[in-house]
Amino acid sequence: MNGYYSREQFTNRRLELARLESAYEATLDSKPARIAFLGLRRIGKSILFDQFIESKRTAGREGLAIVDFERAVSNPETFSQVYVGTIAGQIIGAPERRPRDFLRLEDALSTELGESQAFREVAVRILTELRKADHDQALLYELALGFPQELAEELGEAIMLFIDEFQYLMDLGRYKGIGDPRRLLRANLERQNMVGYVIAGSEITILEDALQSHTSPLFGMFARERLGPFDRVDSLELISKLVPKLGARAAGKICGYSGGNPFYITAIAQKTAGLIKEEGFDEEDAVDHAFLEEVLADWGRIFDFCYYLMEVSLERARGSGNLKALLQIMAEEDQGMTATEVARLAHKTPQASRNYLLELCRFDILEREGDLFYFRDPLFKYWLANLRTGIAWSTTPTRADVWRSLDQHREALKALSDELGTAKESVLREVLGLFDGQLIAGELLGAGADIVLPKFDKVEQFFDKSGGELEAVGWGEHVWACELKWRRSAAGETEVGRLLERAGEAGAERAWLISKTGFTKEALALMRKEGVLHSNGDQFREIEKAVRSET
Ligand SMILES: Nc1ncnc2c1ncn2[C@@H]1O[C@H](COP(=O)(O)OP(=O)(O)OP(=O)(O)O)[C@@H](O)[C@H]1O
Ligand SMILES: [Mg+2]
Repeated sequence: MNGYYSREQFTNRRLELARLESAYEATLDSKPARIAFLGLRRIGKSILFDQFIESKRTAGREGLAIVDFERAVSNPETFSQVYVGTIAGQIIGAPERRPRDFLRLEDALSTELGESQAFREVAVRILTELRKADHDQALLYELALGFPQELAEELGEAIMLFIDEFQYLMDLGRYKGIGDPRRLLRANLERQNMVGYVIAGSEITILEDALQSHTSPLFGMFARERLGPFDRVDSLELISKLVPKLGARAAGKICGYSGGNPFYITAIAQKTAGLIKEEGFDEEDAVDHAFLEEVLADWGRIFDFCYYLMEVSLERARGSGNLKALLQIMAEEDQGMTATEVARLAHKTPQASRNYLLELCRFDILEREGDLFYFRDPLFKYWLANLRTGIAWSTTPTRADVWRSLDQHREALKALSDELGTAKESVLREVLGLFDGQLIAGELLGAGADIVLPKFDKVEQFFDKSGGELEAVGWGEHVWACELKWRRSAAGETEVGRLLERAGEAGAERAWLISKTGFTKEALALMRKEGVLHSNGDQFREIEKAVRSET
C-alpha cells in the first residue's frame, strides 16, 4: 500500500468480500477458514484484506490480525518475536499503539500485552530460549506458530489471521532444524480449531507450487481463490472516484492503458486529474501525457513499480543478472520468442536460456505457451523496451520534452492500449452474457452455416482438475467453452488441443477459440476437423457489435 490510496477509493471485490465474510462466519462457528488468494503484484490483495479487517474492526470485532511475511520472515529468532508480537499487538494491544511497540517481546511484556497469560507464557519461553547460546531454532518457530490458538482459547473467541506474501515462509527452510517450514505449519493447521487462516501472495506460481505440488505438506489444505483484474464497469467506477466528471472518452482511454489493473488505473487517473487541474490540459491529451509520464519518467509510480520488479523482486531469482539481460532482449522483439531465438541473441546455450526463461516464468514475469515465451504484462515490457533505447529524459524534463516523446510514441501507445485493453477476458464474458438468439454469419465463427447464439444462464471462468483455465464457459441449455488469445502471434494446434481437452472436461457441446491475430494452418485444419468455432480479433469485434447493438 502507499500514500496515494485512501479507503474511500475502495472499489469492486464484492465476491471476494462475500467469500471472506462467509469464511469469517465459519471461523467463528468452529469451522476455521483455510483460504489462499492468488493475485499478481498490485492487483489489490493487501487492500482487500485491509478493507475486510477494517470493516470488522469498525463493527467492534477484535479477533483479526494481519502479518506480512515479506517483512516478518528473516531468521527464526526474529520471526518468532515479530509473529507473536504483531498478532498479539493487533488483537489485545491498545488501539493507540504502533506496531513497533510490539516487535521485541522484551518490550511488549511491559505493555498491556503482559496482562495476557497466553502472551506472557509464549513470550517468556521464546526469550528464555533465545538467551541460550545454542538455542533451538525449530522450537522458536514452533512456539510462534502455536501462539494464535492459545490466544484464541484464552479470549474464548476465534481469531482470523491474514498472512500476506505467504510464500516468503519458505525462506525459513534455510535454517537447520526447521527443514520444510510447511510441515510444522500443517500440524498446527490440523490442530488449531479456533484460528482461521487467510493467506495471499503475489508470486503466484511459487505460491501455487508451495501449496499444491504433490509433495507439499500443505497439499489440499487451502481453498484457492484468484484475484483478477477489474472489468470495465469497475474500472470506470474507480476512475470516477479519482477524477470526478471525467468525460467518457478520456475515461475509456484510461481503461485502455491499464488492463483492469487497479494500481495502473489509480496512477494514471491521479496524474490525469493533476494535469487537467493544474496545467489546464485537454482531457484526452492529459490521459496520454499522464500515461507516458507515469511509465517512462523516473518519478512516475508505474516506473517505480517496474523498477522494483526488475531490481528488487528479481534479485531473489537464480542468475538474476542474466535474467535481466534476457528480458532486455525479449522486450525489444515484437513477438513471443523461443529459447533458441533468445539463446542466439544472448550468446548463451539454448539449454541455459531455457532454464533462465523458466525461472522468469516462476516469477510470473513471463509465461509460456508451447515453445514460445511471452511477457505476462505488456506494460512492463514497454517500460523495459524504453529503458535502454527509449526516452532519455533528464531529471527535470519540460512539458515540451514530454510532448515530443508523446509524438514519437503515439503509434506504440495505440498498439499497447490495444493489447492491454480492458482485460479482454472480461469483455469475452460480457459478450457471452449478451448472447440471446442473435443470428450470426457463419464466417464470423469459422462455421459453414449461420449460427443462432444460445442464451446462457451463467457465464464463468472454468478451472479443470489440474488448474488449467478456460476464460469463459457459458452454462445453460447449451454449454459453450471459450478461450481467447489476445496476442501478436497466431494461435496454434497446442491452443486448440488444450481448449478441446478443457471443453471436454466442462462437458461443453461447443468450443470457441478467439485469437486476435488469427490461427496457424495446422490449427485451422484441426479446428475444422473437430468442429471448433473460431474467430480472429476483427471477427470477434463484429460479433461483439452485433450482440451489443441488439440489447
Ligand atoms: N479494490 C480496490 N479499490 C481501489 N483501489 C485499489 C483496489 N485494489 C487495489 N487498488 C489500488 O492498487 C494499489 C495496489 O494494491 P495492493 O497493494 O492491495 O496490491 P497487492 O496485490 O497487495 O500488491 P503487492 O503484490 O505489490 O503487495 C493500491 O494502492 C490501490 O491504489
Ligand atoms: Mg500486497
